[in-house]
Amino acid sequence: MSHSQVSRAPGRPNPAPGVMKLFPQRADPRDRRAPRIDMARIHAEKRKLCDALEAIADTLPSQVDRLECLKAAGELVPLLRECHRFEEETLFPAFLAAGGSGEVVARLKAEHVEDQGTAQELAEELFRIGHGQAVHNPEALGYLLRAFFESVRRHMAFERDHVLPATREEGEIPGRR
Ligand SMILES: [Fe+2]
Repeated sequence: MSHSQVSRAPGRPNPAPGVMKLFPQRADPRDRRAPRIDMARIHAEKRKLCDALEAIADTLPSQVDRLECLKAAGELVPLLRECHRFEEETLFPAFLAAGGSGEVVARLKAEHVEDQGTAQELAEELFRIGHGQAVHNPEALGYLLRAFFESVRRHMAFERDHVLPATREEGEIPGRR
């Protein structure tokens, strides 16, 4: 399906192609819960990516699925970039407006930068493996993969437990959206 075939709310600007590919079901921006609904969907995509990376780490080097390496390599950088952009443009301002800590936001942004750097490094290696080249140092790659997805999972858990609740509207049922 091309980007132009995807239906959108009237009057809503077309998102960048990367955004549409990764987050095809963005909530109606007129819905006040939209940031939290979108956040849950984005985190679900990141969790799937972490699971895929863990499966790759578990099967290095001889059993590794090269197609999965290519798929993960293609998603890593754009998924993180769009996720971080959304959080920094939408979620964090809402968190700060609700009285959230600027130090916390600064730390989360620093983790975004670090994760994006590692994602770029991993994507290059996974593309290489996906295209049939040998896994030169499976121990080092396994270590880097685990360090990355464990860091991303911790980061998401913190945002879920400490950032999202601070932006939640009174009366909304936590975890039901
Ligand atoms: Fe984040």
